[in-house]
Amino acid sequence: MQQKTIETKVTIYRFDELDLEFQQLINKAKDQIQKAYAPYSGFHVGAAVQLDNGEIFTGSNQENSAYPSGLCAERVAMFYANSQYPDIAVKSIAIAAHTNGNFLKEPITPCGSCRQVLLETEMRFEKNIKILLYGTENIYMIENVRQLLPLCFEKSSLQ
Ligand code: THU
Repeated sequence: MQQKTIETKVTIYRFDELDLEFQQLINKAKDQIQKAYAPYSGFHVGAAVQLDNGEIFTGSNQENSAYPSGLCAERVAMFYANSQYPDIAVKSIAIAAHTNGNFLKEPITPCGSCRQVLLETEMRFEKNIKILLYGTENIYMIENVRQLLPLCFEKSSLQ
């Protein structure tokens, strides 16, 4: 028998410890929360994706009365960015969440489907996507999507 332990490295910052570039990306994700359409959950999520060319695309969660038809903020923002610039790699993504009128103290992390979508983009451009997860008390920084989705199913699994 063998065992394998897989570790995920998370670096935890306060907002004022972050580089300006990351602070700005987080602020865009926070602003985007106001545009969420979340009448069913009341849980508002914003995401901001920065490309290698410096452009930023934002998205918010979009719900639907037929619940599974909605989409998370991360996928809205990532698909938006990839559809506008199919040849430009993604550098980073910031995510913020808001409920009952307040930002959460501790960050939320992307759901499984979003991790799978973010991973596809990371693999597609062969470039790490830095993930910034905003909480009012702590901000989590993860160096790449693979850290968030170990033992993943990917393109090479199909061969
Ligand atoms: N949601 C996101 O947009 N991103 C996440 O990372 C987690 C969940 C949305 C989906 C749904 O509209 C609401 O939050 C509650 O799950």
